Amino acid sequence: MPVSLIVLAAGMGTRMNSDLPKVLHKVAAAPLLHHALQVGASLAPEKVVVVTGHGAEEVARAARDYDEATVTVLQEPQLGTAHAVGQAAPLLADAAGDAIVLYGDTPFIRPETLEAMLAARSAHAVVVLGFHAANPGRYGRLLTQGNDLLAIREFKDATDEERLITLCNSGVICADAKTLFSLVADVGNANASGEYYLTDIVELARARGLSAGVVICEEAETMGINTRTELAAAEAAFQARARAEALDNGVTLTAPETVFFALDTHIGRDAIIGPNVLFGPGVTIESGAEIKGFCHLEGCHVSRGADVGPFARLRPGAELAEDVHVGNFVEIKNAILDEGVKVGHLTYIGDADVGEFTNIGAGTVTCNYDGVMKHRTRIGKRAFIGSDTMLVAPVSIGDGALTASGSVITEDVPAEAVALARAKQVNKVGLATKLFERLRAIKASKGKS
Ligand code: UD1
Ligand code: CA
Repeated sequence: MPVSLIVLAAGMGTRMNSDLPKVLHKVAAAPLLHHALQVGASLAPEKVVVVTGHGAEEVARAARDYDEATVTVLQEPQLGTAHAVGQAAPLLADAAGDAIVLYGDTPFIRPETLEAMLAARSAHAVVVLGFHAANPGRYGRLLTQGNDLLAIREFKDATDEERLITLCNSGVICADAKTLFSLVADVGNANASGEYYLTDIVELARARGLSAGVVICEEAETMGINTRTELAAAEAAFQARARAEALDNGVTLTAPETVFFALDTHIGRDAIIGPNVLFGPGVTIESGAEIKGFCHLEGCHVSRGADVGPFARLRPGAELAEDVHVGNFVEIKNAILDEGVKVGHLTYIGDADVGEFTNIGAGTVTCNYDGVMKHRTRIGKRAFIGSDTMLVAPVSIGDGALTASGSVITEDVPAEAVALARAKQVNKVGLATKLFERLRAIKASKGKS
């Protein structure tokens, strides 16, 4: 059965104390909104509608960054969660099947939980995701009788007795799309907040003779982010889970608690990750590759048998083929290193193509930027770039060519040639001794004055 998603993301997030809309704050190098969209994407929804409000343009851009097909709708003013869902109605007017409402600030709902909610729809017209709260605070309370959900009572409107209930509303709700919108249209705002509560649809459904039920998940899944403290706690929770998953998937983490993953990090089986490694967005590490300690990687691909670090930085567009070696204090950006390339030490390779089995000596720099434009460096196969070569791009080095140490290469080097581009050495016999004597004499005369 087709499914649509409605992601509520209009709220201001006042308690973040930030100019940035709440759902754009990041956990695991990805906006909170992307976490919610990724969970939803696991259901392969027909249509995804994000309801925006505060920072609408930025939030809409982030939604499209995740998936170009995401639709957004502006909720202005924000009159409550039912009002927010109502904004999506015109966009889903001909949606068949179920709609699921998610919050953009709630990143950790598991795909299996949403599957369980869809399955529970065979028994109930409206399915609400609940959890047993250790500290129920101001959550909405679920009023149940057997398997039936009778009502959701917002904290502000609850009696003292209802406030004793610890089964709480996560905010995730699932119903047939047409039924959902028709229920939402009937919601009023005669309550303690004067808001249109989505939670009211449970009682409205029952008044129509429809049943409502609850699926219960772990409290950790329902963690919503409202403050920077909660954002930091969410980061810690994400990393703990990502580390455990990596270990389960057959990745060696020498010091798991010091490795940080992004939402989209992919690491193959039998890869080895040393201590203090940070993965930014867009990293794929293939099976059997090794990332040694203190590396920083983003937007890169490391193939089988390659090894990186310690203390290396791979920036967006770094493509390392099989068995490439990138050593300490090396930075690679927007560059393709073919099989077996070695870049051992203290080197910057940016905007470059490096052919297979080429060796790049210590201190090499691709001088890719002229202050206005970026230029590419092309190095052939089995070339040897001597230590401290400056490759002033655009420039190309042929297959099997060699550059002498300390060369500043400004012109193309043909295949199999040696390029020598440095001042010629002159030795002045005995001059060092004379020079030192003169300097010592100067120092001694200064000491007396
Ligand atoms: C809501 C639920 C409550 C539940 C809690 C779980 C209602 C009435 N209450 O309360 O039962 O226990 O979530 O966290 O639904 N939003 C909009 N437009 C609006 C209002 C809200 O997009 O007009 C978005 C917010 O950005 C947020 C989400 O909806 O992502 C929830 O809104 P919020 O005001 O935080 O609801 P709570 O009062 O926490
Ligand atoms: Ca909230």
